[in-house]
Amino acid sequence: MTTTTTTAAATTTAATVLDASGVTMRFGGLTAVRGVDLTVREGEIVGLIGPNGAGKTTFFNCLTGLYVPTEGQVSYKGTVLPPKPHLVTKAGIARTFQNIRLFSNMTVLENVLVGRHTRTKEGLWSALLRGPGFKKAEIASRERAMELLEFVGLDAKAEHLARNLPYGEQRKLEIARALASDPGLLLLDEPTAGMNQNETRTTEELVFAIRDKGIAVLVIEHDMKFIFNLCDRVAVLVQGEKLVEGTSDVVQGDERVVAAYLGTPYEGAPGAEEVAEVEAAEAHADEAAEETAETAETADAPAEEPAEAEAEAAADESDAETDSDSDSDSDDSDDAPEAASENATDADSTTEGDSK
Ligand SMILES: Nc1ncnc2c1ncn2[C@@H]1O[C@H](COP(=O)(O)OP(=O)(O)OP(=O)(O)O)[C@@H](O)[C@H]1O
Ligand SMILES: [Mg+2]
Repeated sequence: MTTTTTTAAATTTAATVLDASGVTMRFGGLTAVRGVDLTVREGEIVGLIGPNGAGKTTFFNCLTGLYVPTEGQVSYKGTVLPPKPHLVTKAGIARTFQNIRLFSNMTVLENVLVGRHTRTKEGLWSALLRGPGFKKAEIASRERAMELLEFVGLDAKAEHLARNLPYGEQRKLEIARALASDPGLLLLDEPTAGMNQNETRTTEELVFAIRDKGIAVLVIEHDMKFIFNLCDRVAVLVQGEKLVEGTSDVVQGDERVVAAYLGTPYEGAPGAEEVAEVEAAEAHADEAAEETAETAETADAPAEEPAEAEAEAAADESDAETDSDSDSDSDDSDDAPEAASENATDADSTTEGDSK
């Protein structure tokens, strides 16, 4: 298996395989993908990364016709794709799923044969009559499927039931099934999820080998080491918007990417407008609260007057007492403000009661 890498610079003149333009996907009030442009050229491995819920899988679903984008369009080799999964597969785009979707009660080989059906010409009658044309096509399909199983390292398990494969091998079987449709572009949604380090490394080799066969690759993954080793170019989605796109070095060094992953807000972040709006509304609410408090103080002022008067009266009383007990002078004068404030509280509550 070769592991040659092609730099992004070398592929900038290569033909465009995928051209997604202004792709937006809304679910009711939620915009999961917002105006995303992305191209993949021949010979490229492009990474799509972003925090959980960033819209990566939704974007894949828009590319493959599983969702009809609310806005935007997707072209494959210069032709706009109809948003129908089987037509997208027929055009030349194959994919794997974040949640493995295999026929668990079918054998490994049968699963790959299912992936082959878009490339076989034999129809219902041919299948029912099982004439020489059908038998020849069937043999050719099985041969091709076995080649693919060998390519991903599962040929020895061709007759095993898919459900009995370990998790990592199920992911590889998904790749073999996707390759069975002879794609020009392969979309991989988290191909190493749940894999150990060795399996991840083998998958990395496998993706390089796929690219070396002339198949462009667009891959979603959370494993940054895998992505930055593998990809000629990486696009970062955050809250449905493309934040940064560039070579692995550029993306790794971008502080906005680090911030997006660590959850630290930065200037101009998608969603920053909403945050600014909330902050402005909170500031406005604080100002309004201060104004209300000031108004309340003004309204309380007359109510405090009697309290002050009572405090003064209390002070007078203490003065009177001073004559008989000079030691208590300071104590009484200390009590006076307390009494005043207690009265003020009473006055407040009265004011509130009045206003209800
Ligand atoms: N069919 C749907 N209906 C409503 N909301 C959806 C639907 N599919 C996805 N979403 C929402 O769109 C947003 C993006 O989800 P998506 O699965 O695309 O994220 P992701 O980047 O693939 O995340 P992860 O890394 O966790 O797989 C999420 O808020 C999700 O809840
Ligand atoms: Mg996802």
